[in-house]
Amino acid sequence: MKPFSLISTCLFFSLTLFSISSTSAQCIDQPSPIKPRNKMAVACSMVKQPKKNLKFHVSNETNMFDLQFFCEIQDKALCAKAKSSFEEAGRIITSTLILNTPIIINATFQDMEDPGILGAAGPLRSIPMKDDDGIERLYPQALVKQFQLGSHPEFAPVDIVADFNSLVPFWFEGDPPITNKQIGFLELILHELMHGLGFNSAWSDNFPQAATPEIIGLTTEPGITDLNATIVFRGFQERALDKYLILLPDNKTTAFYANELNKFANGSTFKNVDDFSDKFIASPQYLVGKEIFSYFVTPKSLVFKPSVSDKEEDMTYLETSLNPFERGSSISHVDIAMYTNTSEFLMTYLQESGRTLNDSIRIGGNFAGGAIGYKLRLILESLGYATRENPKPYNPSPPVFSTDKSNINTSSRITFSCNIYLAFAVGITMIISIL
Ligand SMILES: *[C@@H]1O[C@H](CO)[C@@H](O)[C@H](O)[C@H]1NC(C)=O
Ligand SMILES: *[C@@H]1O[C@H](CO)[C@@H](O)[C@H](O)[C@H]1NC(C)=O
Ligand SMILES: *[C@@H]1O[C@H](CO)[C@@H](O)[C@H](O)[C@H]1NC(C)=O
Ligand SMILES: *[C@@H]1O[C@H](CO)[C@@H](O)[C@H](O)[C@H]1NC(C)=O
Ligand SMILES: *[C@@H]1O[C@H](CO)[C@@H](O)[C@H](O)[C@H]1NC(C)=O
Ligand SMILES: *[C@@H]1O[C@H](CO)[C@@H](O)[C@H](O)[C@H]1NC(C)=O
Ligand SMILES: *[C@@H]1O[C@H](CO)[C@@H](O)[C@H](O)[C@H]1NC(C)=O
Ligand SMILES: *[C@@H]1O[C@H](CO)[C@@H](O)[C@H](O)[C@H]1NC(C)=O
Repeated sequence: MKPFSLISTCLFFSLTLFSISSTSAQCIDQPSPIKPRNKMAVACSMVKQPKKNLKFHVSNETNMFDLQFFCEIQDKALCAKAKSSFEEAGRIITSTLILNTPIIINATFQDMEDPGILGAAGPLRSIPMKDDDGIERLYPQALVKQFQLGSHPEFAPVDIVADFNSLVPFWFEGDPPITNKQIGFLELILHELMHGLGFNSAWSDNFPQAATPEIIGLTTEPGITDLNATIVFRGFQERALDKYLILLPDNKTTAFYANELNKFANGSTFKNVDDFSDKFIASPQYLVGKEIFSYFVTPKSLVFKPSVSDKEEDMTYLETSLNPFERGSSISHVDIAMYTNTSEFLMTYLQESGRTLNDSIRIGGNFAGGAIGYKLRLILESLGYATRENPKPYNPSPPVFSTDKSNINTSSRITFSCNIYLAFAVGITMIISIL
């Protein structure tokens, strides 16, 4: 088996420091799903929104995904098949979740230079929300919309960005029988849309052999080269999924580690990214980052414990068997050894080629819920999505702004290369096995 990775080669990344006023949330935009490390800090100010009519009835047959489809190839028949797969994926998700606000997908289908890249999808904007444990975490915009808050940080024009490679030998519903080398497009889309809906962790190997969640105040933006600009560090921040992560066997939460890491230099100014990196590595918090990293490369060390259940059998083991750690594959997927060929197949980091979505469902034991397994549904419910089984899930609150008026000035821009190790990723990558 030859793994095909979605992670594009390591180029240069830059950090940009933005001015965040005390009445704006610091949101993160990731405009290109196949370059998840390209992040922009955006000050999204609070906006008021008239309450929607909550009684608006959405039938379980409705597709609540509003697709903006850009097909940039000549083969119109292929375009039509790709588009209808997106629509089918939207219908499948809509039949499991109770969505009250349409989710806007900006999907592009185009020739990519690297045939090893299949494509990816992810949230365009991630928005900080205050959880009931008092901690602010980043929520995907698609989910924040469902909360129908009277006021919320400003939304970007689309919720999920998707970009898929038309050069890959995809198999589409209705095609002749799938061959060994073909990859089921519908299964791939469903998997990637789950990442867009919030199945991703903020934790990554941002330092050598050490993990941290998102670094507030730093942004990566390619093509800008000022190696000397200063950085004001504003802390580490988890994502919504991370609220429910438990490290085994000692049952510590990742939130505990995030809290320990946040004893590092909050509010301090660093000369440049190297200075930031050097000082972090010299700090006691680096050892905290190394300690949690060791769980991320040890099999069966990380579980998602759903908010709605304490039962052992309702926990989901996340992918920690990859060593070395693989950004984009580790953590933000379910354990492949445990869940391949089961009803929880959808979120493993490998998708078998030569298998249609229906084949995967059948091999997984013909789960009544279809592609979205029982545990995956519990994860979506914990994040805050309503389902028919759990129509009133937990919702976080809008972010609270500090009265600290010391705004950070914009315009510090820093570029650094991958070998500095301070690289950024969201787990929106998957690798496909080709026989
Ligand atoms: C939609 O709901 C109806 C009744 O509530 C049910 O009979 C039907 O199977 C559902 N359809 C889907 C696609 O879930
Ligand atoms: C949607 O995708 C198209 C094609 O890639 C791009 O030109 C456009 O800017 C995108 N729109 C948004 C709002 O991201
Ligand atoms: C997959 O299964 C569904 C539900 O049983 C069915 O409606 C659909 O036609 C099947 N798709 C293919 C390509 O066989
Ligand atoms: C950074 O500063 C050094 C000296 O402090 C200077 O030699 C170098 O040209 C500067 N680099 C950039 C990209 O401004
Ligand atoms: C960093 O400090 C600011 C101002 O004191 C505070 O509002 C913020 O919560 C701190 N961040 C973290 C992650 O502790
Ligand atoms: C961790 O939690 C499980 C139950 O969820 C319990 O069986 C186990 O004893 C706990 N381990 C420790 C070290 O507390
Ligand atoms: C999954 O099922 C396929 C056959 O459908 C089999 O070849 C493969 O070994 C199975 N993998 C595991 C890990 O059980
Ligand atoms: C931001 O820049 C302005 C103008 O250069 C300066 O007056 C102000 O003190 C700066 N604020 C901070 C927080 O550095």
